[in-house]
Amino acid sequence: MKKTVLVTGAGGFIGNHLVSLLKDKGYYVRGADIKKPDYSESRADEFLVMDLRVWDNCLLATSGMEQVYALAADMGGMGYITTHHAEILYNNALINFHTLEAARQNGAARYLYTSSACIYPEYLQTDANVKPLKEEDAYPAMPQDAYGWEKLVSERLCEHYREDYGIETRIARFHNIFGPLGTWDGGREKAPAAICRKVALAKLHGERSIQVWGDGEQTRSFCYVDDCVEAIYALMQSDYPHPLNIGQDRLISINELVSVVSRLAEYEIEIEHIDGPQGVRGRNSDNTRLYEILRWQPRITLEEGLKRTYAWIEQEVRVQYSRVLS
Ligand code: NAD
Ligand code: GDD
Repeated sequence: MKKTVLVTGAGGFIGNHLVSLLKDKGYYVRGADIKKPDYSESRADEFLVMDLRVWDNCLLATSGMEQVYALAADMGGMGYITTHHAEILYNNALINFHTLEAARQNGAARYLYTSSACIYPEYLQTDANVKPLKEEDAYPAMPQDAYGWEKLVSERLCEHYREDYGIETRIARFHNIFGPLGTWDGGREKAPAAICRKVALAKLHGERSIQVWGDGEQTRSFCYVDDCVEAIYALMQSDYPHPLNIGQDRLISINELVSVVSRLAEYEIEIEHIDGPQGVRGRNSDNTRLYEILRWQPRITLEEGLKRTYAWIEQEVRVQYSRVLS
């Protein structure tokens, strides 16, 4: 008999990639999401289109599932999470509280929750040359935005469910994940996809500058999605029940990110700095514990990941543009 797993958020970016990895590993996969994937078919054995804020749907989705990977969330980049606080807190709290309780009632043995680097205190991220964040830096807590507060509370919920009910919970803290099949327009896109789209559009129209929010000296680390789903899987198999960073630890400014994309696109571009939501000034992952626990580290370089991502987004931009023309 194949092991049964539920992936919530299977219609989203990371969930869709995770479904493919789990299929390759021989699992029976049920996907659940309020929508199907935007840019590809899902490889899930069954796909439930449902709203996971609703208790009865969570009960249905988790029934008969031995393991649950919880990725459903109302989520986006800086443009989205800084402008939808109430909605995000309400939606994600309902999704996460109901999904975990339903998994428990249905007897799931393991549950992996996808948290975020946004749980780390803002006061540790005020400098572009930021100290990489270790897991224990989460407290005293001062997460970023309603999105970060909800993630931190849901992390606690997982730890309490494990202690009180014995369900084996795992907690991944993602640091800006990017790659093909991720949202690249519409307002929820994160910086790597947004920059790829802007460069691809400029190239298509023969324009020589793109707009970047802030002075571009703010820093981040970016992790390619194939590495991310490998790490999620390894964490689920592990016996480590506490939060673990999943990300890259190479710090890069947004201006440098534009330079890398411009080189890959073989198109020289100037930057126009404009006002926009910037979030923390600098953020990087300390991967010491990730390596200690999983004996694993990300393998795909930023350049390689962006090469694949840019190629996909440039193609998407061309298709969308030719639709507008026809
Ligand atoms: P995504 O937006 O592509 O995927 C999330 C999915 O959840 C979407 O398909 C969405 O339709 C679904 N969803 C939202 N509300 C729902 C509802 N009420 N019922 C059912 N489904 C619903 O985002 P992603 O990048 O794939 O993120 C996956 C998980 O990882 C999320 O929990 C996110 O918060 C977390 N995360 C992602 C990143 C990142 O850089 N991508 C960083 C930190 C944390
Ligand atoms: N999205 C976006 N679009 N960001 C831009 C742009 C643009 O056109 N131009 C500059 N930036 C800058 C933002 O101002 C921000 O300082 C930086 O690029 C990174 O922005 P995002 O990629 O949108 O978000 P983030 O890294 O601050 O946070 C993301 O990662 C977290 C995990 O590390 C978000 O997706 C969070 O939801 C997530 O939890």
